[in-house]
Amino acid sequence: MNVLIIGSGGREYSIGLALKKDDKVSKIYFAPGNGATDVIGENIDIKDYSDLAVFAKESDIGLTIVGPEAPLVDGVVDIFKKEGLVVFGPSAGAARLEGSKVYMKNFLKKYDIPTAIYVETADEKEAFDFIDTLIAPIVVKADGLCAGKGVIIAQSNQEAKDAVSGMLSGESFGDAGKKVIVEEFLDGFELSIFAICDGDNYKLLPAAQDHKRLFDGDKGPNTGGMGAYAPTPLVNKKIYDDVKELVMKPTLEGMKKEGSPFEGVLFIGLMIVDGVIKVLEYNVRFGDPECEILMPLIKSSVFDLFYKASTGELDSLNIEIDDRYAVGVVAASQNYPYKSTKASEIIADEILHDNLKENAHIVYAGVTKEDDKLFATGGRVLLGVGLGDSIQEARDNAYDILGQIHFIGKKIRMDIAYQALK
Ligand SMILES: Nc1ncnc2c1ncn2[C@@H]1O[C@H](COP(=O)(O)OP(=O)(O)O)[C@@H](O)[C@H]1O
Ligand SMILES: [Mg+2]
Repeated sequence: MNVLIIGSGGREYSIGLALKKDDKVSKIYFAPGNGATDVIGENIDIKDYSDLAVFAKESDIGLTIVGPEAPLVDGVVDIFKKEGLVVFGPSAGAARLEGSKVYMKNFLKKYDIPTAIYVETADEKEAFDFIDTLIAPIVVKADGLCAGKGVIIAQSNQEAKDAVSGMLSGESFGDAGKKVIVEEFLDGFELSIFAICDGDNYKLLPAAQDHKRLFDGDKGPNTGGMGAYAPTPLVNKKIYDDVKELVMKPTLEGMKKEGSPFEGVLFIGLMIVDGVIKVLEYNVRFGDPECEILMPLIKSSVFDLFYKASTGELDSLNIEIDDRYAVGVVAASQNYPYKSTKASEIIADEILHDNLKENAHIVYAGVTKEDDKLFATGGRVLLGVGLGDSIQEARDNAYDILGQIHFIGKKIRMDIAYQALK
């Protein structure tokens, strides 16, 4: 069967890599893909979603997988389904869980799913009154999609008020900030849990931890994510059980009641506060870089998983998870995340060690190809992914393979998975 993957990052590359191993998959297309995905399949330059659906029909695409949030929020799944195509991802209605933090928080409240206490408002006075009842730090969030920049952790009540004013005036985030969430600060550790859903049923993948900050020791500005590992030993059976009972069950039932059954990847951002789970947010797609480490940990067919989730058949599927660990370390470009960096050629050493050939690989993200040479052009350029029987081993493999890849300004964090190793 032919498969179409929408997106261009490391996430989409890693999905392609996993599907390529599958006998059921014949040809893989990427729209638009990046400078390295054309080794896995063929890159297609069609931006309009209706045109892409026409392409999918003409090219005999049996499954389309949508990577990033923007096309989901824009309704690409609805367009494909209307054409009778099989597509993995939530409808625009269900993607509101990520597209609007106000929708998400009100949903959590309505269905009694544990989360930080909050107010949701477009009124400055109401926000200020609530801020006056809180002790800093205080969290202020813009309602709409802000590419990971719409959350302010204010260190004083005044800073929280300033953040609210900046958002409500439209100055900070335009229309995305026309409504805000003000919420209590939760002090704990964060986890990402991914559930593949078909509307009624779901399969949980190993819990992962991302590293959002640019520098070692979780310092510096937030980024899209500088590395991740899974499974994390910070999750115990109680946390898994609580996620199933207190989050997954009411979420899937609730979304059905709301008329938007959830299909696709549900990414639950959790804060664990003294052993108690609280939902920080939902995302409606894989995290990037979490996807890059979860794909190689799925031992059974990744194609079946996505296909059966898209056709409502997950209950008949057993998935098999590798019992090893995976660590992914991002190599970003010099000026990331502030501004773009001049393109530089990527030079890869020949990998001579059998261990690395077997237990590590590179996932390409922000790269372009010219005359058969790869250039680092994007913010997050590539990842070294390592597998191993322990986190330490997986991590060593990830850093080892990353050490064989060179480009000017290559920026990496040296402490990925430190929380699991301390
Ligand atoms: N209530 C909260 N308490 C503490 N930290 C928070 C809270 N809400 C968000 N954060 C922090 O801010 C980050 C971004 O917030 P999140 O809700 O995930 O929004 P987004 O990913 O859309 O920017 C979280 O990963 C977490 O580190
Ligand atoms: Mg988040």
